[in-house]
Amino acid sequence: MKPIKVGLLGIGTVGGGTAAVLKRNAAEITRRAGCSIELTEVATRTISRAEGVVDSNVKVSADLESVVNNPEVDIVVELIGGTSLAKDLMLKAIDNGKHVVTANKALIATYGNEIFARAREKNVMIAFEGAVAGGVPIIKAIREALSANRIEWAAGIINGTSNFILTEMREKGASFADVLKEAQRLGYAESDPTFDIEGNDAAHKLTILSALAFGIPFQYEKAYIEGISKLDAADIKYAEELGYRIKLLGITRRTEKGIELRVHPTLIPEKRLIANVNGVMNAVLVKGDAVGATMYYGPGAGSEPTASAVVADIVDVARLLTADPQHRVPLSAFQPDMLSNDPILPIE
Ligand code: HSE
Repeated sequence: MKPIKVGLLGIGTVGGGTAAVLKRNAAEITRRAGCSIELTEVATRTISRAEGVVDSNVKVSADLESVVNNPEVDIVVELIGGTSLAKDLMLKAIDNGKHVVTANKALIATYGNEIFARAREKNVMIAFEGAVAGGVPIIKAIREALSANRIEWAAGIINGTSNFILTEMREKGASFADVLKEAQRLGYAESDPTFDIEGNDAAHKLTILSALAFGIPFQYEKAYIEGISKLDAADIKYAEELGYRIKLLGITRRTEKGIELRVHPTLIPEKRLIANVNGVMNAVLVKGDAVGATMYYGPGAGSEPTASAVVADIVDVARLLTADPQHRVPLSAFQPDMLSNDPILPIE
């Protein structure tokens, strides 16, 4: 089977992780996708970042347009972030018939309606698992595992940076500013960290969850948004004395009047599972009418956790592109591949 070719826009924290995971786990990824996945071209404003991360046969340049116009590229992976240039490039990629994988929550939340309309017109796939909760497969959970349910609400910790700040302040008495700097150093924070601490990033993700859960258009502008920037050490301490933890939650639910979207710091009794989601971890609760309340937990930010979701989307798109057209669904998506040569250890 011919390889599926990937063009990468951006090789920063998540782009670098994506290139590294594609290379390191090439054997597993090929088995699971049913075809090999080749990184063909990388465009980045900082070319030195690609050194040592991508093989020498991969074309690396600062020409972002070259990737979306490259006739060899099947899947464009957009990881440059931001909403203006990223939007132009994504629409061009779609117009060129490319499938797109992105982790850009701001772009999807703000321009998702236009982007998905264009993708439908051009019959291309847009996959965005990495856009919400990093490595936690919450998009797939809502879209696939919970597809039988009428969803009543979804709520969760969906910004790793603010959860990291709140955790370090409570556990270590660290200062807000110091922990934010550490979150930036670890690659958790947005390039403009006000998006993290003022709740916008969580609201972008909540907008996406809400659209999937309720089948509504993306409506970021309707969200109530309040971040953690006004909290101080005393708030966290008093909450603890009263038996509560403060968490920045994103909440979306059906009300009699319509769908509500809100992001704000919330007092949660300390015995609740979600009150004990600490550091960069994210957790999302989803209540479906059939299944009841479910919870999804894992690393919400960072290079390889987010790359894990991005590469999984690449695999999904590759499976669909290479599926036998006689099969309505790609078999490789539902069957164990049974091709691994790993030895099975004896029971001791
Ligand atoms: N800045 C984001 C966060 C990155 O801290 O959650 C992951 O989307």
